[in-house]
Amino acid sequence: MPERDRPSVLHSVADLVGRPVTKDQLLKAMVDRVKADLQAERGTLYLIDAETGDLVSRVAHLPELKEIRLGPGKGVAGYVAQTGESVRLPDAHQDARFFRGIDERTGFVTRSMLAVPVRDRTGAIRGVLQMLNRRSGEFTAEDEARSLELAAQVAEALELTSLRAAAGQAPGVFLDGPFNHIIGESPAMQALYERMLAAASTEATVLLRGESGTGKTLIARAIHDNSERHAGPLVHVDCVALPAGLIESELFGHERGAFTGADQRVPGKFERAEGGTLFLDEIGDLPLQLQGKLLRFLQDHTFERLGGRGALEADVRIISATHADLEAAVESGAYRRDLYYRLRVVELTVPPLRERGPRDIELLAEHFLGVYARRHRRSARALGPAALRRLQAQPWPGNVRELEHCIESAVVLCREDILDARHLSLPAGAPGPVPVADDIEAGYPVGTPLGQVEIDHIRRTLEACKGNRSEAAKLLGIGRNTLARKLRDE
Ligand SMILES: Nc1ncnc2c1ncn2[C@@H]1O[C@H](COP(=O)(O)OP(=O)(O)O)[C@@H](O)[C@H]1O
Ligand SMILES: [Mg+2]
Repeated sequence: MPERDRPSVLHSVADLVGRPVTKDQLLKAMVDRVKADLQAERGTLYLIDAETGDLVSRVAHLPELKEIRLGPGKGVAGYVAQTGESVRLPDAHQDARFFRGIDERTGFVTRSMLAVPVRDRTGAIRGVLQMLNRRSGEFTAEDEARSLELAAQVAEALELTSLRAAAGQAPGVFLDGPFNHIIGESPAMQALYERMLAAASTEATVLLRGESGTGKTLIARAIHDNSERHAGPLVHVDCVALPAGLIESELFGHERGAFTGADQRVPGKFERAEGGTLFLDEIGDLPLQLQGKLLRFLQDHTFERLGGRGALEADVRIISATHADLEAAVESGAYRRDLYYRLRVVELTVPPLRERGPRDIELLAEHFLGVYARRHRRSARALGPAALRRLQAQPWPGNVRELEHCIESAVVLCREDILDARHLSLPAGAPGPVPVADDIEAGYPVGTPLGQVEIDHIRRTLEACKGNRSEAAKLLGIGRNTLARKLRDE
C-alpha cells in the first residue's frame, strides 16, 4: 500500500493520546477518524468493561443515546467480542444476530454493517469497532482488512492511556475515571475528577493543593487541555526553581536596558501564555515583593515589563499549585492575604497516595509497569501477588512519583514476565504491616509439616538468588553451612 493511502488513526489522534484529555474526547476522535476513512454513516467503539464483561459504548456516535451497554454475546458486536470473528453484513436486519433494540430506540435505520474485534498486542479482545451504513454500496473485504488495521491502532492508543487493561487480566478495559491519563478510581479521586471537570469548563483561577508527587502538574495540564483554552499555550513556571531576582523578569519580561546585561527586550511568561494558561508551580515560594504584582494581574489582567513604561494586558488564565501551608504563611505575614484569596477561587486538593486505598496503588503500579516495560523493552507483563502486597503496605511519602520510580527500577531489574517482590527496592525497615502469611506466595495449607515448609522456603529463596548460597543464607538469616546442611539433609 502506498504510504499516503495507509490508514492512520493514530496520526490524527496522536496529539490527543499524548495529552490528558477526557476519555470521551479521545474515543470520539478515534471513531470519527475511522468513520471518515470507511465512508460510514455511523461508527461505534465498544469497549469491554473489565468489571462487568458488558460491551459499553462511550462515544456519542449516536447522538440519541448517551451510552449503549450490551450484555456478553448480545447483538452483532457481542458476537464479535465473544468469538473474535469479524462480521460483515450487507443488510443487518436479515441477520439473526442483529439486535433491533437500538434502531428502535433511536429511529436510525441500520443497513450495512461491519464489526471487527479490537485486540491488544497479546491478542486479547478489548472491544469491538463497528461501522454502520457505508455511504455507497456495501462494506467490502478490503474495508474489513482496513478496519482490522485501524482497530489495531485504536488498541495501541488505548494502551498508552488509562484505558488500558490490567496486564494479564483479560478481557476488558478500565472505564472508570473520566481522564485518559489520570489513573485512580478511589472515592477521593472521583471527587477530584468532578471538581476538575467543573473547573475546566470555567475561566476561574484554580489553586491545586497537595503533597509533592501527588499529580498536581498532571492535573493542571488536564484542566487546561479540557478547557476552552486548550488550543492556546500552557506555560509552566516553577517559582522555586528560579533565583528570586530572576522571577520578576521571567514572569513579566523586561525592556532593553532594564538592568545590566538586559541587551534586548524579552517577553515574560505572561505574554507567552497569551490565549492560554499560566501554571505557577510552588506558588508558596513567590517572594513577597512579587506577590503584589501577581495580585494586580489577577485583579485586572494587566502587568508591566521590568523597565517598561505603561501597563500591558494579557488574556491568561492562572492555575497555581503548592504543597505549602499557605494559611500559616498568611498568619506569619510571609504571604499576602488578599493574594491568597484571589488564588483560591477554586481550590482542589489532590489526595496523598496513602489515602487513595489499595486499589489505586494496584492500578497505578500496573499502569507504570506497562509504560516502563514498553519504554525499556522489558519482559515484565504483570505484578506478582507478593509484590502487590508489598506495594500496598508502603506509606509512600513521595506519593505517585515515588511509586512510579519504584516500578520503573523494578521493571528494569526484572528479567521475567512477572514482577516479583524481590525486584522491588523498597526502603528497608519500613515494609509496613505485611502479614507473615502474605509473603508466602505458594500458600501452605494449615498443618503442613514444618520441615516441608522450611525446605520449600529455602529452595525458593535460593532460586530468587539465582543459586547463590551465600546470598540466600544471608537473606534467610542462617549461616552458609547451616544452609548447606539443610539442603543435604532433605
Ligand atoms: N493519578 C495519576 N495517574 C497517573 N500518573 C500520575 C498520577 N498522579 C501522578 N502521576 C505521575 O506521577 C508523577 C508526579 O506527578 P506530578 O504531577 O509531577 O506531581 P506534583 O506536581 O504534585 O509534585 C508524574 O510522572 C505524573 O505523571
Ligand atoms: Mg509538580
